[in-house]
Amino acid sequence: KRIVVMYGGKADEHSISCISAAGVLRAFDTERFEPIPVGITKAGQWIVGGEDPRGWNMAEGLPVVEKTAGARDVVLDVALGQDGFFARNEDGTMESLGHVDAVLPVLHGPYGEDGTIQGLLEMMNVPYVGCGVLASAACMDKHYTKVLLAAAGIPVAPGITIDARTLDLDSKFATNGDDLVAQVESAGLEYPLFVKPSRAGSSFGVTKVEHAGDAAELAAAVYAAYPHDWRILIEQGIDAREIECAVLCPKAGDEPKASWPGEIVLDKRAGGDDQFYDFDSKYMDASASHVEVPANLPDDVLERVRETAVKAFKAVDGTGLSRVDTFVTADGEVMVNEINTMPGFTPISMYPKAWEATGVSYTDLITTLVEGVLR
Ligand code: DAL
Ligand code: MG
Repeated sequence: KRIVVMYGGKADEHSISCISAAGVLRAFDTERFEPIPVGITKAGQWIVGGEDPRGWNMAEGLPVVEKTAGARDVVLDVALGQDGFFARNEDGTMESLGHVDAVLPVLHGPYGEDGTIQGLLEMMNVPYVGCGVLASAACMDKHYTKVLLAAAGIPVAPGITIDARTLDLDSKFATNGDDLVAQVESAGLEYPLFVKPSRAGSSFGVTKVEHAGDAAELAAAVYAAYPHDWRILIEQGIDAREIECAVLCPKAGDEPKASWPGEIVLDKRAGGDDQFYDFDSKYMDASASHVEVPANLPDDVLERVRETAVKAFKAVDGTGLSRVDTFVTADGEVMVNEINTMPGFTPISMYPKAWEATGVSYTDLITTLVEGVLR
């Protein structure tokens, strides 16, 4: 079976996707599948025959998909369905990449994890791994994820959503800050707050706001989120442990399964006690943290996390896979923070690690996901 593995993409999480794809391609069961790596540059150009992702690793810096010598543009023909993948030669002629049995979009963030590529593949009539259009779009947007979860009776962190397009952040920083403080107050939110772009991942643009009523600090946090999205969440920081659960449902319509929940244990706190699990500790510093599965919690709490994760996955109409990130308070209350429909997929990422601890190896996990969508 011939499987297009997509990576890179236009999102901020471009390099994370490259690293995830490097891991996936190295572990691919090549007796069963023939991978066709298709990279997407930051500008959105699709290429085949570029640098081999299997050679990439984070130690050499953030990998980037580039159209190197010998790489060719990929052109799609929607009308041709599973045979609709072509490479464009130097002289402009098209060469078929042959029949494609399925696509594995190892893409994070907007244009990869948000329903857009899923919609394109639906139009092409090509099977693909992971959530469909609705679940992908809903989970890419933290605001709408919360709306759906709350409607399903699943607890979420209290917060408000603002439209930064309506703020004049350059010239009226402080004025806006006062207004934001007032909105936070009237919503009854307690500090610290977390300010997050609604559609981003890997902690891009996230800031912790410590000081109650500090208009400049709050406005600056909104300003930091704005390059990533104009829709911005201001959430009450929850005094809780962050517990992540891997949900797997390779065949649409099957009952989803939940892994043992895991926890990221920080080994080192570079920036002092107020440091949260930010981009650098996630990806740049392997010694900053490790994954612990199952998380050190009582059995009944672990079970509640698993049940909540499956319930959340169903509430957003999930298929394939998702990592459901929860907050677990000291008295065992479980809240859902967010759902990642294409979670980090390096061999040391939580999603594969959680399944490994539950009895599914990295290679088997990839095989199961791909086989689930083959026709
Ligand atoms: N958005 C990153 C890749 C994650 O959730 O793992
Ligand atoms: Mg995310």
